[in-house]
Amino acid sequence: ASVHVLNGVNLGTLGKRRPEVYGTLTLDDIENLLRDEYPGVNFEFRQTDHEGEMVGFIREAAGSDGLLINPGAWTHYAYALHDALEAVDVPKVEVHLSNVHARETWRRHSVVSPAVDAVVAGMRQWGYVAAVRYVLERSLG
Ligand code: DQA
Repeated sequence: ASVHVLNGVNLGTLGKRRPEVYGTLTLDDIENLLRDEYPGVNFEFRQTDHEGEMVGFIREAAGSDGLLINPGAWTHYAYALHDALEAVDVPKVEVHLSNVHARETWRRHSVVSPAVDAVVAGMRQWGYVAAVRYVLERSLG
């Protein structure tokens, strides 16, 4: 199976940035965890701080078995990501490390959620692990 794991703005600094909120793992650590948990999966990992580049990464996932996306702060206002996701017909999961509902009120709203199948928040790295499991089950039917 082929699964694309897309991380957006500021997620390249994971591990250093607010560890009390996002945990101490780096993005590399999370990617290695996914490889360990799912040795049979062919992962495509992408991270960018540029919204247009993320649109390209979303399109690249067309034809795969599914995608995970943590859009970072784009979650809350980037309609272009919503529209790009809407146009890609694979299982899609929006993942947040932190519980966005327990933080600032502006984090409670996602403009991306209407364009995905499922949302995970607050499970730190385990949210990515759970989201991959969901995508694999979906691709089996
Ligand atoms: C985040 C939550 C967003 O509100 C925030 O801007 C991030 C990370 C999360 O993974 O918890 O950058 O998407």
